[in-house]
Amino acid sequence: MYSSEQIQQLQGDTRRWLQGLDGAATLPDAVGELENLRQVLRFHEYRYYVVHDSLLGDSDYDRLYNLLRETEKAYPLLVTPDSPTQRVASSLNGDFPKVDHLVPMLSLDNAFNADDLRDWDRRVQEGAQNSQIRYSIEPKFDGASISLIYERDQLVRAATRGDGVTGDDITLNARQIRSIPLSAAFSHYGIQQVEIRGEVLMSKRSFDAFNEQARSAGTTVLANPRNAAAGSLRMKDAREVGKRHLDAFLYHVSYIQPSTHPGEHAIPSTHTGMLRMLWDLGFRSPEQEKHLANNIEDVIAFIQAFEAGRDQLPYEIDGMVIKVDNLQVQDQLGMTAHHPRWATAFKFQARQATSRLIGVEFQVGRTGAVTPVAKLEPVQVGGVTVSSISLHNADYIQEKNLLLGDTVLIERSGDVIPQVVKSFPELREANAQPIQFPTHCPACSHPLHKPEGEAVWRCVNIECPAQIVERIIHFVSKDAMDIRSLGEANVRKFYELGLLKDIPSIYHLDYDALGKLEGFGKKSIDNLRTAIDASRQQPLHRLIYALGIRYVGETTAKTLAQGVNHLLDLSDKTIDDLRQFDDVGEKVAASLFQFFQDAENLHLLQRLAEAGLKLGKDVTVAAPVGEQPFAGKTFLFTGTLSKFKRSDAEAVVERLGGSILGGVSSKLHYLVVGADAGSKLEKAKKLTTVQILTEEEFERMLPST
Ligand code: IVH
Repeated sequence: MYSSEQIQQLQGDTRRWLQGLDGAATLPDAVGELENLRQVLRFHEYRYYVVHDSLLGDSDYDRLYNLLRETEKAYPLLVTPDSPTQRVASSLNGDFPKVDHLVPMLSLDNAFNADDLRDWDRRVQEGAQNSQIRYSIEPKFDGASISLIYERDQLVRAATRGDGVTGDDITLNARQIRSIPLSAAFSHYGIQQVEIRGEVLMSKRSFDAFNEQARSAGTTVLANPRNAAAGSLRMKDAREVGKRHLDAFLYHVSYIQPSTHPGEHAIPSTHTGMLRMLWDLGFRSPEQEKHLANNIEDVIAFIQAFEAGRDQLPYEIDGMVIKVDNLQVQDQLGMTAHHPRWATAFKFQARQATSRLIGVEFQVGRTGAVTPVAKLEPVQVGGVTVSSISLHNADYIQEKNLLLGDTVLIERSGDVIPQVVKSFPELREANAQPIQFPTHCPACSHPLHKPEGEAVWRCVNIECPAQIVERIIHFVSKDAMDIRSLGEANVRKFYELGLLKDIPSIYHLDYDALGKLEGFGKKSIDNLRTAIDASRQQPLHRLIYALGIRYVGETTAKTLAQGVNHLLDLSDKTIDDLRQFDDVGEKVAASLFQFFQDAENLHLLQRLAEAGLKLGKDVTVAAPVGEQPFAGKTFLFTGTLSKFKRSDAEAVVERLGGSILGGVSSKLHYLVVGADAGSKLEKAKKLTTVQILTEEEFERMLPST
């Protein structure tokens, strides 16, 4: 897409614009200058969204983007439809207009094994009459198909597949997908109008991030990345589409109307040439994934190797598509009523399977949330045996229309946890029973409650044994008090035997009684005692996190630990006081308030203090030996990091002498920003004292080892 001279030129332009902003910024005044600024921004969008190798920090990108926006605001006549500012979202009233495709969108014939491919090859050879056949192979992307029309280099329409002849006009939503260029220089190929096909996808990472957020907010979780992409394309509010971080792969040119003037490049005569053209025009075509094979055995070998690496791909694929490379031979082969003869789809082993729902168990978590868990007849899905799957909440069961005994379709996509996709009501027996959601806690029989606007039923009895056990398990867990020898199984066992009653009883364990249990020798008891003793010295933030207060994660726990002299100081604070802590919003403040007003909880803290735990402010640990380049520097990580696990990145900072803050404030030196960063980034941009870093920039600050 960009030659190295162009890259150098654009990088130079980028520096020039940024330097302009550092000095007394003036609005660009000439039309040509403004177009240069747009080119600079398009270049950086391309590097970020298509090549995934950004050459500019997010904050610098934002500064240049704002400059363009401000200038266009001042000179509205100079705005062009393909300006990077024109991905503005709006919402649609009513239905999507129906539109006809220029060429019907056919589907592909399938091959399920090597012999199917050999048969297909034979038919191709026969139909092609002596031509030397080469096959192009690319992934079969598992998303939602889309068709785009560009006229005079501008994106004019995007549509869903629909019934193949007529689809929905989703142009506004497609403009939100950053890997779809708003303009592309087809005119350089002498093309006046073009229709291209592709697939819109949600990466596995964006899918997981979306569901994690939905789960904590109690809103609907998405079944799999494919449904996520298809559903996203049909959303009425284009702003929401922008938030879902979709990608678009374009793999097929279905229609070309040449211009009257030829372009400087010839229109390609092969499929791989088309993929190359799309790539050069800034599309995310499978240019890097494609393979050109000389015969069908070569195709088979390539497919097998690709399938082996399937789980490592950042997005879902459900097979490979094999196409005759030469477009003239494609024409010669033509199509049947349903599919082209020049292409076939090789389907990978299914990640879906059917099973029977034999029962539902209701599990009580440490916050009292009751989660229905489907018990299934064990079934193999993509190489893993699945026999139970979370059904999330009562609404989900209703949405999926599940009855006991139902045949259900389940799916495990890559590293995503298995989900129930749907039931088959048509296979249901007449007397199938509905799933009764309990009205009372399965562990303690206390009535369950469901707060307004939430999807989750809860047991609010703080003495509920199921919750107590889960709370103890959380308290001793690795990121909390880290009492290693007291894992989940031991906690359950000791609780059943009456050796553990609640959290403080950990510090009064009867080691003699333990010694009489089978499997507990002197050595394991000594280890346990040492681990429990050591946990008394854990810093305050770990204790706060270990208490399992709703909505209080590790970061909030750190903020609180830094902000008080003694944990019990929190019991004097009003909701408004609590909201003064960085990043503590209404929900967290209300939860903290409730926790610290509860006499039982205060009594529990008292007992922990008596057992020798530290409820006072964290004392600074003596500086560890070694390099301390971050001494005195404060960091905060936000968004989804791709290179590091957040806890690892934080540990590195601390090891190098820096500290992690809980929120953005004037005390913060560096904010390291991953994907989908939100309010923290916005806040940091307003503070001139905070330096905003990409992960790459952060990585460069680390001493090389
Ligand atoms: S080519 C006329 N290439 O699979 C041929 N299709 O089962 C046009 N798909 O409707 C299709 N990846 O939505 C082609 N690399 C790829 C594809 C692909 C996914 C989808 C497409 C098509 C369906 C056919």
